[in-house]
Amino acid sequence: MIKNRSITSIDDVSEDEMIEIFDVTERMLSALESQKRLTSMSGKIMATLFFEPSTRTRLSFESAMNRLGGNVIGFSDVKSSSVSKGETLADTVRMAESYSDIIVIRHPLEGAARLASKFTARPIVNAGDGSGQHPTQTLLDLFTIKKEIGRLESLDITLVGDLKYGRTVHSLLLALARLDATVHLVSPPSLRIPHHVISAVKDKIDITELDDLSKVIHDTDVLYVTRIQKERFPDTEEYQKLIGSYSIDSSIVSMMKKDSIIMHPLPRVDEIRPEVDTLPQAKYFRQAFYGVPVRMALITLLLGGDQ
Ligand code: NCD
Repeated sequence: MIKNRSITSIDDVSEDEMIEIFDVTERMLSALESQKRLTSMSGKIMATLFFEPSTRTRLSFESAMNRLGGNVIGFSDVKSSSVSKGETLADTVRMAESYSDIIVIRHPLEGAARLASKFTARPIVNAGDGSGQHPTQTLLDLFTIKKEIGRLESLDITLVGDLKYGRTVHSLLLALARLDATVHLVSPPSLRIPHHVISAVKDKIDITELDDLSKVIHDTDVLYVTRIQKERFPDTEEYQKLIGSYSIDSSIVSMMKKDSIIMHPLPRVDEIRPEVDTLPQAKYFRQAFYGVPVRMALITLLLGGDQ
């Protein structure tokens, strides 16, 4: 049971717990689809501490809590919080603890969510820590694959784009290592996945690193595209050189299997052309939608509400 636990890495969630989260997600999805009013979180408060920009993650967490009948407090801009006056993370978290039951945090520094969890007894959920991890994104990514492909095992998965700074792919790769996946990591040489992530998984799954997408596109079941993380580059000139490194258009999609899918955590810039949006393989908007039922399930299990 994950009740009252902090989720700062995808490794904080076991396989059995993932199965449980997805079971509850299915029930949340049916409730959403039938517009059933849920009240299991009535009287509970979620604090969202967003020290970095976000659209989907914050809104879907807030939507999830509202849909469960709970309330939300927080900030989405450090300028409007006492952080701008120099308050430490520890003090901000201690305050959030006394005002809420669960704390969702996004921060530009890797390890910030784990550090925050040391200052509070409330469950802390990592909604992205710099180039570290984004575990709830991974839960919704896996749920999307399960729903749209029909299985999580024995898949050929290609992760493409900024694998160095992209936190979504770091968490996803750790989770894929527990499934029997074949993984291709496609990126420019300077944006390869960090060594510590590869070494955590390389003995468990079959991985290839390359820079040419056309070599693996035909066999791919899931093409997971990522944005080049402009905000993490120490040198903007370096970023400029990499703009447009990969751009998925309809000619690339025509090389893919008929029943394959394209995912993206969003926001996208130019790495998926708009013409792809209407193709049957495009699942990224559906993926973003699944963020709500997955987060409803997670909040419910963390706070021990009715499922
Ligand atoms: C991602 C993030 O913030 O890491 N977005 C998201 O949460 N859906 C990906 C990105 O910003 O590129």
